[in-house]
Amino acid sequence: MKPNHLLHKSVPVIAIDGPTASGKGTIAQLVAEHLSFHVLDSGALYRLVALAAQRYRVHKDDIATLVMLIGGSHISFCEGYAQLDGVDVSSEIRHEPVGKLASAIAMHAPVRSALVACQSAFRKPPGLVADGRDMGTVIFTDAVLKIFVTASAEDRAQRRYKQLIQKGFSVKIDAVLRELRERDTRDLKRATAPLKPAPNVRTLNTSTLSISESVNQVIAWYWKIKPTYSAKNVGCG
Ligand code: DC
Repeated sequence: MKPNHLLHKSVPVIAIDGPTASGKGTIAQLVAEHLSFHVLDSGALYRLVALAAQRYRVHKDDIATLVMLIGGSHISFCEGYAQLDGVDVSSEIRHEPVGKLASAIAMHAPVRSALVACQSAFRKPPGLVADGRDMGTVIFTDAVLKIFVTASAEDRAQRRYKQLIQKGFSVKIDAVLRELRERDTRDLKRATAPLKPAPNVRTLNTSTLSISESVNQVIAWYWKIKPTYSAKNVGCG
């Protein structure tokens, strides 16, 4: 019998990283459904901490209190449900100011470290599709498949704009594009776990590929890799 951490390590992970509104969350969800894998939306976790900080008036740079919030009993996050003080806040965390605050608190290394165990716990049989900024570079460096999703800032802003209008928010496309660029800069330039392609990453450009083409491509890559991966695991038995 293998020790627990080795069993855990043998669970395949598909890491999907990319900037905001690139389509990575939708791709991750659909790939996970197709393979009957678990899914981790790590951005939702950062958003949940941001919402908790907003609720309890914790400043974005008050690192010690942010870490205490993560370790405390206010927030819980499992299988797509984000709860704050026992209430489902899965839609509230999607609001733009929460995303902006999430990006700001995500710059702090201790905040990121405090969230590692929670993210690793999502790695369960038969497999995991994890999306975020540092899935392939930091959290699941041994992911069997690493994908970097890109799209132009203009295309991403259009998508975000449509989503917000559909939800009844009154927004201007110029403001959405400006915010998205600011968020990109923060996520790309931060010192800890900046958004960058992992080594051996495969790139998907959703400006030129539809979501279903992207999903099919990820699944095709996975099936190509999987036989080698399984064979290696059997050999380690
Ligand atoms: O993917 P998203 O837009 O929901 O993420 C919200 C913010 O959380 C994002 O701007 C940066 C941060 N984040 C991060 O730093 N690392 C991750 N793995 C996921 C999200």
